[in-house]
Amino acid sequence: MRVMLTKRLRLEPVSALNADRLWQILQAADLRAYQDLPGLRLTAFVESVARRPLHLGSGQHGRYEWLVVESESGKNTGWISLRIPERETGAGEVGYTLLAEFRGRGYATEAVSALLDEAFGIARLQRVCAYCVPQNRASIAVLERLGFTRDTLLPRGATVGGEPVDVIAHVLEARDWRDRPYRTLTSTDGKKK
Ligand SMILES: CC(C)(COP(=O)(O)OP(=O)(O)OC[C@H]1O[C@@H](n2cnc3c(N)ncnc32)[C@H](O)[C@@H]1OP(=O)(O)O)[C@@H](O)C(=O)NCCC(=O)NCCS
Repeated sequence: MRVMLTKRLRLEPVSALNADRLWQILQAADLRAYQDLPGLRLTAFVESVARRPLHLGSGQHGRYEWLVVESESGKNTGWISLRIPERETGAGEVGYTLLAEFRGRGYATEAVSALLDEAFGIARLQRVCAYCVPQNRASIAVLERLGFTRDTLLPRGATVGGEPVDVIAHVLEARDWRDRPYRTLTSTDGKKK
């Protein structure tokens, strides 16, 4: 995993060294309205992060996360994630969350855009999907801005707060990501993509 730079954000790979910063964000009260998040204590959370793979490349699997840091202020604004299942390493699932004070600025779209470049480029995925509850308009809007299409409704496809909930799957194919307007980012080597 590598640091990714976008116009306004620095996306920092989460490892055991900075997992405490992600854990702090996870404590915010309103993040669990539409998703289940780990309720681990700090030590257990850092240990679980330490077990994750650090190398993201073709054929790899596991859970990868990046802190979303505002470049100008250095503030932690949220995180993005990519999960690649062992049984199908050509497909991945993205996740994203911003603290309430950093919403409405386009940060999620900007960060997930960089993540998609990494998913289709470095990890060579064929397809990326995302799941969210139908009521989560803000999340669906992020996906639509990035060119995802609605795939299917999965009845009781996830749990939120311990209760089963329906979720909508959205999908983006690698071939449809090329030439998207949001693909105007720089990576750590400073080259324009
Ligand atoms: C889902 C979530 C990340 C979306 O956050 P968001 O701020 O709405 O999304 P973005 O960062 O892409 O911002 C888009 C908004 O910023 C606005 N915006 C302002 N300045 C902008 C800029 N320079 N560039 C792009 N958009 C900008 C857009 O117009 C848009 O506002 P609108 O929805 O009123 O039209 C956020 O609601 C969240 O963290 N929710 C809780 C956790 C969660 O539900 N996660 C997803 C689980 S599936």
